[in-house]
Amino acid sequence: MRTQVAIIGAGPAGLLLGQLLHKNGIDNVIVERHTGEYVLGRVRAGVIEQVTMDLLDEAGVGERMHRDGLIHDGVQICVDGKRHHLSFKELTGKSVMVYGQTEITKDLMDGRAAVGAPTLYAAYDVALHDIHGGKPRVTFRKDGSTHEIECDFIAGCDGFHGISRKSVPPSAISNYERVYPLGWLGILSETPPVSEELIYVRHPRGFALCSMRSPTRSRYYIQCSLADDIESWPDERFWEELRPRLDDEAREALVTGPSIEKSIAPLRSFVAEPMRFGRLFLAGDAAHIVPPTGAKGLNLAASDVQYLARGLIEHYRDKSDSGLEHYSERALLRVWKAERFSWWMTTMLHRISDNPFDYQLQLADLDYLFRSKAAATAFAENYVGLPY
Ligand code: APR
Ligand code: PHB
Repeated sequence: MRTQVAIIGAGPAGLLLGQLLHKNGIDNVIVERHTGEYVLGRVRAGVIEQVTMDLLDEAGVGERMHRDGLIHDGVQICVDGKRHHLSFKELTGKSVMVYGQTEITKDLMDGRAAVGAPTLYAAYDVALHDIHGGKPRVTFRKDGSTHEIECDFIAGCDGFHGISRKSVPPSAISNYERVYPLGWLGILSETPPVSEELIYVRHPRGFALCSMRSPTRSRYYIQCSLADDIESWPDERFWEELRPRLDDEAREALVTGPSIEKSIAPLRSFVAEPMRFGRLFLAGDAAHIVPPTGAKGLNLAASDVQYLARGLIEHYRDKSDSGLEHYSERALLRVWKAERFSWWMTTMLHRISDNPFDYQLQLADLDYLFRSKAAATAFAENYVGLPY
């Protein structure tokens, strides 16, 4: 097979890139290890920045998002049982959209199928070749035989555990990492959300987050130990741990019910530099991971894709490689700001150490956030998404 851009991975990064390239007449093939159903089965976060909404619209897949998504003009932060409101709208004039990543992935898959662009699911043993040569290739096994795609460029959109970053010689890549000694235990429940806006909770028992997917479906998280397993967390124990962390009003309003999904996610900050190696470009979780506290994972994947798509369009349409040459540097500038914001929110809201000094620092940070317009504006600017 021959194409212009071979994309590894049919997550939000790969699918969004494929859509933007197709819209600009650039041939591309997506190679995905799992089936489409499996990819759609993964429950992920769901807060979208304005710039990401605009990109999904540009890709022609924003209709359902605008119809079913929930616009949020602000967020609530509950500290030791006292709730504080921060209005992004007042502080920045911008809002965010709450719309599940699973729904976005579905919209992107439907959009791709509608334009007949090729996605090869259940492709195993994907391998990258000659990423520094003139004619990079991707090989994989599917339906019992080996296949090869010849291309001009490879986009590694295969997530943290993918093959793309692993195909780069260790000497050519710098890894930056911070692993947090805790996880997020999350549940999905067919219960009405406890509040119209998200509630981030800082509490001596640990962090919690009250989020939603729709007016009838809620998503809750509590901080847990990495040693924990799902079996040791029956639904009732989850609600018993969540309730006392909330303020009185939320505790009153909390509707509990059986979980329809339950999972534990470790918290990690990770960046690989650079994000380009010859004809291979990394985008999304393949190059960086943020703890979910700042809701930046999906938005950073979209940000990378925006820079990469512009660079590839410029290459084919204007015969200029300036966008591709600056891809890594431009994407990393935004990545590190989101890494800093996500690390800051994580250290400010979680019970990471039992040192009372850290506890007091958190309270001072939060009190400054609630009393200083400058601090609240900085928070809001980062949360709604910094401009590209
Ligand atoms: N070969 C082919 N496909 C692969 C391989 C491989 N060796 N390894 C992984 N993949 C596929 C995965 O099955 C997955 O569908 O690559 C895709 C990567 O998708 P994501 O992990 O969702 O990563 P990305 O598209 O960058 O999206 C980032 O996802 O995890 C969230 O918080 C994160 O919101 C962020 C978003
Ligand atoms: C979610 O809705 O799943 C969610 C929202 C905000 C976060 C993380 C997850 O920071």
